[in-house]
Amino acid sequence: MMALSFLNIIASIMVALLLYPLLTLTQNYLRVRTLGLPIVFSPFGRLNPFWVITQPYIAPFLTRLSTISDPFSIFQNFVDYSTNSCFFLSRYTLHECYGPAFFIVTPGLTELVIADAPAAAEVQTRRKDFIKNELNYKPLEILGPNVVTLNGEAWARHRRITTPPFNERNSALVWKQSLLQASAMLKSWIGKGERGVGNTLDDTMALALNVLMAAGFGKRFEFGGGSKEEKGDSMSSYRNALSIVLGNLYGAIMTSMLMGLPSWALPKKFLDMKSALKEAEEYILKMIEEERAGLVEKSSEGDNLMSVLLKASESEAMGKGRMGLSDEEIVGNLFIYNLAGHDTTSNTLAYAVIMLATDAKVQDWLHEEITSVFEEESVEKWNYERSFHQLKRCLAVLVSLIIILYYDIWLILSLSCSSKRSVSTAQYSTCRDTQPPRTNVSPSKRKRFSSHHTPSY
Ligand code: HEM
Repeated sequence: MMALSFLNIIASIMVALLLYPLLTLTQNYLRVRTLGLPIVFSPFGRLNPFWVITQPYIAPFLTRLSTISDPFSIFQNFVDYSTNSCFFLSRYTLHECYGPAFFIVTPGLTELVIADAPAAAEVQTRRKDFIKNELNYKPLEILGPNVVTLNGEAWARHRRITTPPFNERNSALVWKQSLLQASAMLKSWIGKGERGVGNTLDDTMALALNVLMAAGFGKRFEFGGGSKEEKGDSMSSYRNALSIVLGNLYGAIMTSMLMGLPSWALPKKFLDMKSALKEAEEYILKMIEEERAGLVEKSSEGDNLMSVLLKASESEAMGKGRMGLSDEEIVGNLFIYNLAGHDTTSNTLAYAVIMLATDAKVQDWLHEEITSVFEEESVEKWNYERSFHQLKRCLAVLVSLIIILYYDIWLILSLSCSSKRSVSTAQYSTCRDTQPPRTNVSPSKRKRFSSHHTPSY
């Protein structure tokens, strides 16, 4: 009798587990059904943790299954628009099929995907109507709230304070450090001779991290070498901690969520990440303290992102009715500079190098511009203010690479609307819609990437 009721409980739980997603899927479908846009279904939201973790194993299996016969083709269908790399692989084909805007309905969030430039611009500029989805952004508060993760008034305060560091003076510092690091990287590549360059990305990651350390904190590292700091300084271990964290962002996010758990409950990988995160946090706090106490000897370039951020926060706090950033927020923002600026730049550089290596024509085109701007001048003398704005071809190559590559940012970061909002533009008028609550809008994700493949653009 006991066994029977236990089985009944298990069976009821199983039925509930199966029925609940069906119920929420139906609810979500009913919300968008009348809006006049094409609807596609997926059993998993793109950010569903189970799906994110298991898709590398399950998706190829489902794709193979879908080739057997018709009823199974349904698997390929949702794999096409639900996996992490789907936007990269599908390019514009899904929009060819479903039009410039369509809904992806799942048991979790519903997603509105648009490939229409004016509509995308409208969504991104109406910051009050289309807010960041906290569920997606919260995990990026690894060491504290920051300008990337916040909405509304808090975002505006962080934005006011975190903008001043990105000034022309700091750009000149970034320029100088980039030249130093790139020259050293090239020297090491040339030194490899016939063996060739083994891993371009590892080197561009080291380069990007060194530039960030110098521009962010005024701490200099040689490419492929150690710190230029005095012996005993813990900067090298901070750089190592940071490179562990930045090298495994998903691991860092998971670990920051599990930070409260006792050490014995965490696997070794998480423990290593936990101590890297702790070290990074402690070191940033120490640097802030030193900067405030005026203990930092200024380099010839003077300010860096951290020093300007601290000054901006203090002067904001002095304004009437205003407040600066708390220490936790300062750490959060300094850390997010590293995070936001590391993978993005290092991947772009690695792709640029590989692309240039395979395309002699583009190489010649850039070479022509570089020799005309700098003539015979040696690299050490290249001047930011005088030259940067003249390097239009270099900029064009990097910008087009960025547009191609960074579709994935929108896989992670999407906007959502908390109440009914409408988006309409001339091009979009056929699918003019009023968005229901709990809908994610992914304006650029497909737009950015698919626009390169959109005949009308
Ligand atoms: C190739 C290089 C880069 C690309 C493609 C890139 C891309 C982006 C994108 C798409 C966003 C918008 C995210 C959103 O709205 O949620 C963003 C925001 C941001 N990025 Fe970058 N980024 C790059 C380099 C950098 C660097 C070097 C830094 C800092 C050192 C940085 C710091 C930030 C910050 C602080 C924000 C948030 C701005 C705000 O919400 O007001 N990024 N970036």
